[in-house]
Amino acid sequence: MTLPLDARQLADRFASVFGTAPDGVWQAPGRVNLIGEHTDYNEGFVLPFAIDRTARVAVRRRPDSEIRLLSTFGNQGLTTADAGSLERGTAKGWTKYPLGVVWALQQHGHPVPGLDLLLDSDVPRGAGLSSSHAIECAVISALNELTAAGLDDRDMVLATQRAENDFVGAPTGIMDQSASLRGAAGQALFLDCRDQSFRLVPFDAEAAGLVLLVIDTKVSHSHAGGGYASRRASCELGAEVLGVKALRDVGLNDLEEASGLLDPETFRRVRHVVTENDRVLQVVELLDGAGPAAIGPLLDASHASMRDDFEISCPELDLAVGAARAAGAVGARMTGGGFGGSAIALTPVAAEQQVRAAVERAFAGAGYVAPEIFSVRPAAGAMRLA
Ligand code: GLA
Repeated sequence: MTLPLDARQLADRFASVFGTAPDGVWQAPGRVNLIGEHTDYNEGFVLPFAIDRTARVAVRRRPDSEIRLLSTFGNQGLTTADAGSLERGTAKGWTKYPLGVVWALQQHGHPVPGLDLLLDSDVPRGAGLSSSHAIECAVISALNELTAAGLDDRDMVLATQRAENDFVGAPTGIMDQSASLRGAAGQALFLDCRDQSFRLVPFDAEAAGLVLLVIDTKVSHSHAGGGYASRRASCELGAEVLGVKALRDVGLNDLEEASGLLDPETFRRVRHVVTENDRVLQVVELLDGAGPAAIGPLLDASHASMRDDFEISCPELDLAVGAARAAGAVGARMTGGGFGGSAIALTPVAAEQQVRAAVERAFAGAGYVAPEIFSVRPAAGAMRLA
């Protein structure tokens, strides 16, 4: 992988492409979700953290309404659009994300002028690490300042969700952008998705002699596809039949009764959400007390629940998790929306090489595309760089 451009290099590149310096450079990170999957749109709990992989944008306001967009990656050349006539379904590739943010700001009553924008990113795309939200959060941070829109973090979370839901067409929740905007080094974000209240919880794997490995299975996924939406619909059906506002309002003790009221598939979906919410609370308690090494069994249980009850894993993710655990990881699970993307494996530093080798061997043995394995640590959220 080529090295990401720093703020100065990106500004220089911007000037050579657009003929003048940018107004500024902003960055926002991707995220790993430690635990709490498909709980966000059920008004439940999540525990993601911002990672040390970021999207960076150099942006300049234009005096007209033209938007010109270019990235340092891929083969999508310079794209142009008109700020006054953005329409859902018209944008292509990565430009959906910045244009979606412009559109969402307009929908929220904040006029956005024309722009020149150059994007660089080292968040792996399609890997379940929220490369799209990294772009959206970098862009909204930039536009919030450049247009003096005066949005706070909550507003930016909701505006980027609107961009995803109504412009990009992915019915996602608020977890990813919350982590990208609010993350902090060494900490995970314990977020209550009902009211957006949150607390930073220490997650220092290194201090506990551990490393958090990301295993990108290279199975590409999209939340604008049917699987994510159908899981969301099952959850909404479950809440309706059980007579609650959201599955957040169903407790472990209600599950027995729920099993008699729901069809078997909807019951399994509901059971995942209910037990996952409880696992988030348990992990937070452990991180506050015993420390990261103690959370392994809850990561494993989360994976089993997604594999068997929510049915959003895939053979590559299951193999990654199984091979990592067998080679010495203390816990492992798929992370993100599922149907592909990445697994995480919390691994003792001493076992890192054997875990990496075992996963690579297992993938080669199964005839799968070689995975990409790298370590991540909790890093800062969105910020202005220059
Ligand atoms: C994707 C979505 C999030 C969340 C996760 C699953 O990452 O963007 O809102 O629903 O899937 O936990």
